[in-house]
Amino acid sequence: MKPTIAPYPHTRLRRTRATPALRRLVRQAHLSVDDLIWPVFVMDGTDAEEPIASMPGVFRRTVDRVAVAAKEAQALGIPAICIFPYTSMDARTEDCALAWSPDNVANRAIRAIKDAAPDIAVMTDIALDPYNINGHDGFVENGEIVNDRTVDALVRMALAQADAGADILGPSDMMDGRIGAMRTALEENGHQKVTILSYTAKYASAFYGPFRDAVGASAALTGDKKTYQMDPLNSDEALRLVERDLSEGADMVMVKPGMPYLDICRRVKDTFGVPTFAYQVSGEYAMLQAAAQNGWLDHDAVMMESLGGFKRAGCDGILTYFAPAAARVLNET
Ligand code: PBG
Repeated sequence: MKPTIAPYPHTRLRRTRATPALRRLVRQAHLSVDDLIWPVFVMDGTDAEEPIASMPGVFRRTVDRVAVAAKEAQALGIPAICIFPYTSMDARTEDCALAWSPDNVANRAIRAIKDAAPDIAVMTDIALDPYNINGHDGFVENGEIVNDRTVDALVRMALAQADAGADILGPSDMMDGRIGAMRTALEENGHQKVTILSYTAKYASAFYGPFRDAVGASAALTGDKKTYQMDPLNSDEALRLVERDLSEGADMVMVKPGMPYLDICRRVKDTFGVPTFAYQVSGEYAMLQAAAQNGWLDHDAVMMESLGGFKRAGCDGILTYFAPAAARVLNET
């Protein structure tokens, strides 16, 4: 039954906005530190970090420094870190063999975080792009990004990450059939407890630009990713992808990018009611940071408002480069 609303002045909608206490009482969405996953970039070497020009405040860190960052995250109460590797140009090959090496920088980082900060869940990225000579998430044959051969490689990558101790695997490649293939391999290899947070509705977005700088893929990438990532103007297709990934054994799903796709977050949550995450990607971070640095926007205010928007749109959590800064704000209040 629809509630009837008394006409003005009996109803004054400003009444419940009048004081902080009343606003808190009627507030619907809540952001907490528990909602944050912090993406970090890891590189070879020791005791060093490099700033990323297009992402002010974000660094590539060596494995030992990532372990230190993980301890800080743990102290802030952040539940999970997501690792992205930076590999030098000469380590990239056509066969991408480094992707499933147990000793690649990402797998070393997983082990280092597990040692340093055992309470932190470690999430990974599964795609060939950091290891691929041409910057694509899959193998390229005669100019085409091939699906099935790529899935076999992604499964090897997933197993190497699970062996290294990853808690959450994040396939970001958008190949067909990868979730089922990974789930089968995990079950068969004693990794029943490893979860999959599928990059399910990942759009072919221009907002990934700064990330590709961070992992050194901008220079490498030939062409675009439109034959595997989604068309930004589609929405029903996202629901088909979620249904498909859940049927193959995904535990959690993601919408990416975040802010321009809040309608997708809401549809996914309403339709399936499963753990739903959004990725506030590098370009979203960069534009807010740039405006804040110019004094055009209030940094903390827009950070918190943008993250709150994800909660309002139905997300259970957010991957965001703001995670430590947001955690600090949340821990103060
Ligand atoms: C690569 C990957 C990308 C991001 C996460 N994993 C870039 C891409 O698909 O080109 C983007 C993250 C960001 O922009 O913050 N598979």
